[in-house]
Amino acid sequence: MNSKELRQKYLKFFEDRGHKIIPSASLVPDETVELAGTQRVLFTTAGMHPLVPYLLGQQHPEGNRLVNVQKCLRTDDIDEVGDSVHNTFFEMLGNWSLGDPASPARSDGSRRDGISQGGYWKEEAISWSYEFLTNELKLDANRIYVSVFAGDSDAPFDEESFDIWLKLGVPESHIFRYGKKDNWWGPVGPQGPCGPDTEMFYDVQGESLTGREPATNPERFVEIWNNVFMEYDKQADGAFKPLAQKNVDTGMGLERILKVMQNAPSIYETDVFAPLMKNIEDKANYFQTPSARIVADHIRASVFLIADGVSPSNVERGYILRRLIRRAIRHASLLKIEKDFLEDLARETIKIYESFYPGLSEHQPQIIDELQKEEQKFKKALNSGIREFEKIKGDISGDEAFDLYQNFGFPIELTVELAKEQNKKVDMAAFDSRFKNHQESSRKAGEKTKGGLAVQSDKAAKLHTATHLLHRALRDVLGKHVHQTGSHITDERLRFDFTHKEKMTDDQIKNVEATVNQQIQSALNVYKKTMPKEKADELGAIGLFADKYQELVNVYYIGQSDEIKKAYSKEFCGGPHAQNTGQLGVFKIIKEESAGSGVRRIYAKID
Ligand code: ALA
Repeated sequence: MNSKELRQKYLKFFEDRGHKIIPSASLVPDETVELAGTQRVLFTTAGMHPLVPYLLGQQHPEGNRLVNVQKCLRTDDIDEVGDSVHNTFFEMLGNWSLGDPASPARSDGSRRDGISQGGYWKEEAISWSYEFLTNELKLDANRIYVSVFAGDSDAPFDEESFDIWLKLGVPESHIFRYGKKDNWWGPVGPQGPCGPDTEMFYDVQGESLTGREPATNPERFVEIWNNVFMEYDKQADGAFKPLAQKNVDTGMGLERILKVMQNAPSIYETDVFAPLMKNIEDKANYFQTPSARIVADHIRASVFLIADGVSPSNVERGYILRRLIRRAIRHASLLKIEKDFLEDLARETIKIYESFYPGLSEHQPQIIDELQKEEQKFKKALNSGIREFEKIKGDISGDEAFDLYQNFGFPIELTVELAKEQNKKVDMAAFDSRFKNHQESSRKAGEKTKGGLAVQSDKAAKLHTATHLLHRALRDVLGKHVHQTGSHITDERLRFDFTHKEKMTDDQIKNVEATVNQQIQSALNVYKKTMPKEKADELGAIGLFADKYQELVNVYYIGQSDEIKKAYSKEFCGGPHAQNTGQLGVFKIIKEESAGSGVRRIYAKID
């Protein structure tokens, strides 16, 4: 069974059981949606994420049984990419019940809008999952293993799920009980809906091999599906309060179930990866599996990200995209792929997916353009940077790591990865401190920063400050959904990309200009404070600098006094900046245009 057939089979199975098929949401979360206490995430990481408001009780326009295939991106496992099951971008098949039959809103068995299909709970969710796996996919029931929540001081043992599995015929020896680490899902962030889950595994190797525990033998027991029973709302104080509306949230990783169905040694031999892997193999002059998989995974993720409006940059989503592309380029160099390769692999990726995701073909020119630009920028620097790296004897000092970053645009993760391959260590503490000092002196001197990635001069520093004012003004005029997706500054102008669906009206543009100019006339001071990332989040700083190695962050804030709480604008940022908004001159928007789906781009200058 190929990926196309599998998606259709899954959607149809649940459609036949009263579910409405809904489209995949963007990889870039819609920030017009209030997430009621849940943490802001850079990317859609699970099918449930775009549904949080409905899991918390809002009426979904399509009813209370939903099914879809959701594009997801998780970068927490990035170091594991290259093994047989990990990837960054993946598709999640999911079915949902918003509210169980006993929820107060559904006590009469129907909905306000007249949709008669009620919500369901553990019995239906588990039975349908089992039916789908054994009847529709015809998997061998003897190889199915499951796990249920063992219980702890917050919530009891999930006996109901345990009994349902037994009743379906799964032997007790195939049912494992695990605690919060393995059998609990959510919330996304510190607060929000969550609950016990029951996971399904498929034994792809058989009894003869060692390791009987699904939780600790991922190569033998491929985790294929997770049914989450959302019964709790985790509070700010850590308490688990029962949810008024209980929900079912399920997720089946498409690539993993394909690996099982196609009896493939890894997800990279399934039909969503095979043509891409073949293309890489043809191009490689020295083939080795982990690097080829990393290239395939990262290109695929990059193609989907660009199609959803993300551009490579030094902040937030753009920075993650830049890291994915640069890591792919570096692993392509290990495969001794000599020619430019990103365009060709992007085309191959689009071919694999275009029938299910028509948006990819639509954005093909933009996808190729962004990838080629980044390829040109980084390729030269990579070779000379690696030569420089090879000259280093022994462990890598903070200064050496910093030079690679500053002169060759090496994200610190790349230096760490190179070092690891040669059993060397990187002095991260020294790097961090050097990095911070550099940011401080750049701010003062307005000198060059980010390895030739952006030229910073006095004028650029002023444009940088204007960018923060613009970001805040856009949020004031258009709404809090506005969020930076990219930024680029030259000596002449700033460019700012942000999430917003419609073209801005002339009035809105005038309004934003007036708001920025008002702050310039107020001659506000620009301050900087270094603080733990969590503290900055708490203060409401925006523009996350998504570097996982960096615990301390710089927050630049603009206000009348150095009291950060009262500041007009607070952003995570590397600087440099002007000292006072009064130095900026008159702010003018030169152009406003689309930069992909749901993303607008503004060019502006100050004279
Ligand atoms: N939200 C659940 C998961 O991502 C289904 O595993």
